[in-house]
Order: sequence, then structure tokens, then C-alpha cells
Amino acid sequence: MTDSLVLEDLVKYVSKNGSKTSIKPVFKTESFCLYQDNSLTVMSRFPEGYVDMIFADPPYMLSNDGITCHAGKMVNVNKGKWDRSQGFENDVAFHEQWITECRRVLKPEGTIWISGTMHSIYQCGFLLQKQGFHLLNDIAWFKPNAAPNLACTTFAHSHETLLWARKEKKAKSTFNYDLMKNGSFPEDKMKRYSKQMRSVWSIPTPPQEEKEFGKHPTQKPIALLKRIVLSSTKEDDIVFDPFNGGGTTGLACKLVGNRKYIGIDISEDYINLTVKRIKKLSKQSTIFEYT
Ligand SMILES: C[S@@+](CC[C@H](N)C(=O)[O-])C[C@H]1O[C@@H](n2cnc3c(N)ncnc32)[C@H](O)[C@@H]1O
Repeated sequence: MTDSLVLEDLVKYVSKNGSKTSIKPVFKTESFCLYQDNSLTVMSRFPEGYVDMIFADPPYMLSNDGITCHAGKMVNVNKGKWDRSQGFENDVAFHEQWITECRRVLKPEGTIWISGTMHSIYQCGFLLQKQGFHLLNDIAWFKPNAAPNLACTTFAHSHETLLWARKEKKAKSTFNYDLMKNGSFPEDKMKRYSKQMRSVWSIPTPPQEEKEFGKHPTQKPIALLKRIVLSSTKEDDIVFDPFNGGGTTGLACKLVGNRKYIGIDISEDYINLTVKRIKKLSKQSTIFEYT
């Protein structure tokens, strides 16, 4: 029933869906749609089995007033209120809620990526398996330019983990093997040309030009998201990011081309940042905004 739903139909569906209050995107083109809201609220109105691929970069829950190093200086580790832990049980309950919704909106052959650090990724990995997802890979995103550990009490954190899982174990999900093996990845000093793509990806943190409209504290590099979109989606696929942030997943969809994107973020600032980034990238006449 939902196969033929294009983004325009989804917007109508989400807007009403039996409720008196309407939810509308704050920005929309034919292939790009942004909601500023709580993901759980918007997702609960999505039809079942609509999305081909989900990339989720949920709150890390690491903003605990600690310190870290940024540009050679000691700074507070806090990312924002949205990143504060509510205690182990509540954090797990939050992850369980959004992962459950993601499973519902994903097509049977669809896949989900979840990125995180040790603060969140083991909870998410456990919940993926609890919900019946089939794990495909755990990618180590190695940051060759990671900040040093100022306290000198542990190893310097220099990677994040990306879990990649399929909704149904036996379904045939998309993996563009040849593109990964033979593609060009100049940013990655570990990838050897025409050799299989391995599960350790060396990609620097976002360069200055990716922050020209302001920065999101946990913005992912475009090269990372381009690789994810390129490897695990086909033309016309619908890609969904429930924690849009600065919109890196959407930008990657645009750069790879012929993908449709839906992003949700609770923060107006981050949605505005995304709109600036996408407008610069597309500069296309079909762009229009909902008010
Ligand atoms: C780790 S960041 C995502 C960064 C993003 N991947 C990027 O490259 O910019 C998590 C984002 O989730 C948003 N967020 C937190 N809780 C949310 C919720 N319940 N619903 C929607 N967005 C939420 C935050 O505002 C934040 O921008």
C-alpha cells in the first residue's frame, strides 16, 4: 500500500493521520523534507514499511560536565541539553522507543545504521538484536585527527562505531559492493584502490568548509555519510534520519543523487543550519518552504 507513496503523499499522511493537530515540514522540495519536532511524535505518524534506509546518530548521552580538548584547548565536553544522560534506565528506554519506531517504518529489506560512542552504542546494539534486526557490520570510523586525551588517564578516543543492520534476516538488502571496492575515497588513507572495502574507515572530522554556516557539536563529515548512502541505497530510495542535526545525511543524499531524504530534529537552530547548507548545495528552483 505504501510503495507508491512519494514524499508529497507522506507529508499529507503525516499531517493528518487521524489526529486533530497537524504536523507539517518546515522545509520541503521534491526530494528533501525537514521536520522540526520530536522524532517520536513525527515518526509515530509515518506509514508502516515506507523507508528504505535509516541513518540514526542519536544523542550520545555523554554531556556530563567533563572536559575534552578542542583546537588544542581544554573545553567543556557538553554538547547541549539534548545530550544529557537521564540515567541508564531512561536512556535505554529512549533508545528502545525510537529503534522500535524505526523498525516499524522500515521496509522488510531495509537497513538501519546507528552511530555512536561507547556511551550509547552498546545499548543500541543490544536493542537492535532484541528487536529482531540482523547485524551486518560494525564499522569503526577512525578519526586520524582525533583530539588528544588531556587527562592522560585513558587511551585517546579516536573512533566511533557504526552499526549496520537489516530489518529481516533473510531479506535481500542493498549493498553496492563494486562501488565500495572500486570507488575513489581520497580522504581515507587506509583504503587501497580496487581492494575490498574493510570495516575500518579512516575519515577526518569535518573540515572548516563544512562548517561555513555555523557548526553542530557532533556534525559528521560529509565523506562518511556519502559512503554510507552510496553503499547501502539505490536510486529513488527513501533515506530517513530521525536525528538530523546539521543535515549531513541529507546533504550526502543530494551529493550521491537521486535519493529522497526525510530529516527530523528537535532544534530550530540545527534545522536552520541544515536549510542553509542544502540551499547552498542545490540552488534549484523547485525549492519551496512550508510556513
Ligand atoms: C548526534 S546529533 C546528530 C548529528 C548529525 N548526524 C550531523 O551530522 O549533524 C543528535 C541530534 O539529535 C537531536 N535530537 C535529540 N533528541 C531528539 C528528539 N527526541 N527528536 C528529534 N531530534 C532530537 C539533537 O538536536 C541533535 O541535533
